[in-house]
Amino acid sequence: MTGPAIETQSLRRRFGDKLAVADLSLTVDPGEVFGFLGPNGAGKTTSLKMLLGLIAPTSGSGRLMGVPIGERRARERVGFLPEHFRFQDWLTGRELLQFHGRLFGMSGTALEQRIEALLARVDLLDAAHQRVSTYSKGMTQRVGLAQALLHSPRLVFLDEPTSGLDPIGRRLVRDIIRELKADGVTVFLNSHLLSEVEQTCDRVVFVKQGRIVREMRLGSEAHGLELELRLGAVSEEAAIALAAMGSGAREEQGRWRLRLEGEAQVADVVRMLVARGVAVYGVRSSLPTLEQLFLEVLGDEVRPG
Ligand SMILES: Nc1ncnc2c1ncn2[C@@H]1O[C@H](COP(=O)(O)OP(=O)(O)OP(=O)(O)O)[C@@H](O)[C@H]1O
Ligand SMILES: [Mg+2]
Repeated sequence: MTGPAIETQSLRRRFGDKLAVADLSLTVDPGEVFGFLGPNGAGKTTSLKMLLGLIAPTSGSGRLMGVPIGERRARERVGFLPEHFRFQDWLTGRELLQFHGRLFGMSGTALEQRIEALLARVDLLDAAHQRVSTYSKGMTQRVGLAQALLHSPRLVFLDEPTSGLDPIGRRLVRDIIRELKADGVTVFLNSHLLSEVEQTCDRVVFVKQGRIVREMRLGSEAHGLELELRLGAVSEEAAIALAAMGSGAREEQGRWRLRLEGEAQVADVVRMLVARGVAVYGVRSSLPTLEQLFLEVLGDEVRPG
C-alpha cells in the first residue's frame, strides 16, 4: 500500500450548539502507531466515529487507506475496539467471536483457528465457554480486542483500550500493539492517559475540541535523555560546567537533573564531574515522560479546567 493509512481534511462535527470536533486535519502513515490524546470531552471518540463512518461529519472529508470515509470498503479492512465494548453479552466469548467473524465474512477452519489463536493471545481460553455477561471488566475489554483483530485488519482503531485493565492487562495490550506494529499494521490509539501511549506510540497529537494543538514524535532521537545524578558537594565551577553540558539543569531534593541530547553525553558528564573532584554516587538516565514533554511544550496552556 502506498499513500497514507489515514488522512482527513478539516473534519468537523456539531451536536446542536456543541462543536465536538472543530477542524481535524491529520495524516497517519502506514505502519505507524499514532496516539490521539486529549482530555475528557476533547472530541476523540467523535473523531474516531467519523473516521469509521459511524457518524457523518458536519463538514470536511477523509480517507482510510485511500477509500473515502463512510464507504463500506473503507471499513472492511479496519478493526475497531469501541470505548464501551458491550456487545452480545448473552453469548459465550467463543460464540461472540464466531458471530463477529461471520459478520466479517469469515467461516470454517480458518475462522476457528483464528479464534483459538486470539483467545490464547488475550488469555481467555479458559473462559471461552463462559457467557460474556459473567466476564470482569478486563475480560470484556480483552474479548473486545480479540474481536477487533479477528479479520487481521491492516488498520486498527482502539478507543481507550486499557480502561479498566490492571497492570498485567495493560501490558498485554501494549505487547499486542507492538506485535501489530511489527506486522506493519497501523494503529490509531485514543487515550487521555499519557503514560499509556508514551510506551507504544511513534507519534502523538494533543487535541482540544477536535483541533490538533500540538504534535510530537516520541523516542530518544526526538527529545534526548533525562539525566538524574546523585552527587557529593558540587562547587560553583562544577555547577556551571554541568549546566553548560545540557539544558534545564537544576537541583531538586539533593538530586541534579538535566536534559542531554543522547547517551554519549552521559559519559562526558561523569568524566567532567570526576575531573573537577565531584563525588558521583548515582547516575540514572531515562526518556523524558510524555507528561514532562507536554508540560514543557504546552506550558501555561495546560491549566486544569
Ligand atoms: N451524540 C452526542 N450528542 C451530543 N453531544 C455529544 C454527542 N457525542 C459527543 N458529544 C459531545 O461532544 C464532545 C466530545 O465528546 P467525545 O466523546 O468525542 O470526547 P472524548 O475526547 O472521547 O472524551 P473522553 O476522554 O471522555 O472519552 C463532548 O462535549 C460531548 O458531550
Ligand atoms: Mg472518548
